[in-house]
Amino acid sequence: MKRIGWLALIACSALFVVYAALVVKELLLPLQGGGREGEGIPAASAEDIKRGEYLAKIGNCAGCHTARGGEPFAGGRRIQTPFGSVVATNITPDKVHGIGAWSANDFYRALHEGRSKDGRLLSPAFPFTNTTHISRADSDAMYAYFMRGVAASSRANETGEMSWPYNSQLAIAIWRVLFFDRANPLAAAPTTALERGAYLANGLMHCSACHGARNVLGAPIADRSFAGSIMPLNDWYAPSLHLRDEGSVTDWTVDEIITWLRVGINQKASALGPMADVVFKSTQFLDDTDANALALYLKSLPVSQTSQGSQPDKSSTNASARGGELYATHCENCHGKNGEGQRGAFPALAGNRAVTMARHENLIRITLEGGFAPATAGNPAPHGMTPFYHLLKDDEIAEVLTYVRSAWGNDAPPVTRLDMANYRNKQRFKQ
Ligand code: HEC
Ligand code: HEC
Ligand code: HEC
Repeated sequence: MKRIGWLALIACSALFVVYAALVVKELLLPLQGGGREGEGIPAASAEDIKRGEYLAKIGNCAGCHTARGGEPFAGGRRIQTPFGSVVATNITPDKVHGIGAWSANDFYRALHEGRSKDGRLLSPAFPFTNTTHISRADSDAMYAYFMRGVAASSRANETGEMSWPYNSQLAIAIWRVLFFDRANPLAAAPTTALERGAYLANGLMHCSACHGARNVLGAPIADRSFAGSIMPLNDWYAPSLHLRDEGSVTDWTVDEIITWLRVGINQKASALGPMADVVFKSTQFLDDTDANALALYLKSLPVSQTSQGSQPDKSSTNASARGGELYATHCENCHGKNGEGQRGAFPALAGNRAVTMARHENLIRITLEGGFAPATAGNPAPHGMTPFYHLLKDDEIAEVLTYVRSAWGNDAPPVTRLDMANYRNKQRFKQ
């Protein structure tokens, strides 16, 4: 017995020493001087720059690096995390405040390893667990674009407000040792459409950054990249792309998926909230090859039947007559008498998973706050949905939503007054 105790102690100590050595290595690397210097900015063809612009667009680098109303890529957007905020940096070619003094190696290292030019470990608010998969060729094309196709901005970087110890390099080093696997830089570039789709979803387009499950330290959980997740602090639910009753698109045709990615709305769904933003800034620009590749990959994701949400007794689903009346007064004009919607303008609510999903955060939210489908080339002047927080009381919203969840063949559990109260408590949304 005693002997096993000693062996366990020795094993634990050895493990501790190994982890400590790895953490020290993460921290000391910057002292070695980081990326190679003196490369200068290599010549780039107009084609490279154009390709880089396309990749930066579908990679949605602007989504974080361009502040609302700010100069393109000049940084300043505050990214909220459960541990405080981080401000995205200026990545324009300004030599002092931006990345104008960076080499192509420095740029690749930032994406691949999550390290700044001076070796500083970047915060995981920068999705380097995704950008690590970006190929050297794509990185170089984006580098050419940032150096030659983007206007330099002298906007100074701001520091965020992370709480201790999360703001320390030591904490990031430990996080990296535990949770960060650098992609193999020598991995073969994707050749088939399916491989390209996987590369886009997991790497450049970082779909898993929102749709992936995370642990308590905010790290992505291996093999659960598309298992669905509540987005920290804005509380939108990014559905599981494996579940038929959430966000799986296995049953959609490739054309329906492509339409949804490019236009933001199809016969089955309409992109909402943060997803509308992703369509607006990124997926609508997918070229034919990439749109097809991403659609094929999404369609190929394995499907599991069971929803994580507990399914309350459906016998209590019977909606009140008042729910139907409220629908006729407030919703029918746009969504139709039978929830059939209006093609290209108003989504159908019959058979729509945004309505029937067991998790009803997004449903309550769109009804309270309203919203716009994204403006895209295929839907340049999208219709809006009226916000109802000032028109309907909580119990009325619960009734109308219970109605739409059970009418026209929909068969989802009710939204109760208690659900509304819980939602309000979480949102601290003032009526
Ligand atoms: C989800 C938000 C987000 C997205 C998307 C994003 N970034 Fe960032 N990025 C950040 C944040 C936040 C930082 C700063 C991290 C820090 O300072 O610790 C950062 C840092 C960087 C840096 C290091 C800058 C420096 O001065 O050290 C580079 C380079 C960079 N990003 C490039 C890109 C590119 C290229 C893309 C698109 C493929 C991209 N980022 C997409 C949030 C994002
Ligand atoms: C910033 C966070 C975020 C990112 C990044 C993101 N999503 Fe989403 N996604 C959401 C949210 C929130 C929803 C739920 C709202 C809705 O239904 O539109 C959603 C919904 C979806 C749905 C469900 C469609 C439906 O209603 O049936 C699909 C499919 C999807 N996303 C695919 C993707 C793909 C592919 C990418 C990468 C190109 C991606 N998402 C990137 C947040 C995100
Ligand atoms: C003025 C027209 C209008 C009215 C009135 C209206 N809606 Fe909407 N609704 C829309 C539009 C447009 C969208 C698409 C918004 C988006 O994509 O962000 C939408 C989206 C939705 C969605 C999300 C569907 C999806 O595919 O993601 C739900 C759920 C919804 N509405 C429910 C309701 C309910 C319940 C009412 C009545 C209380 C209502 N709407 C009243 C126009 C309307």
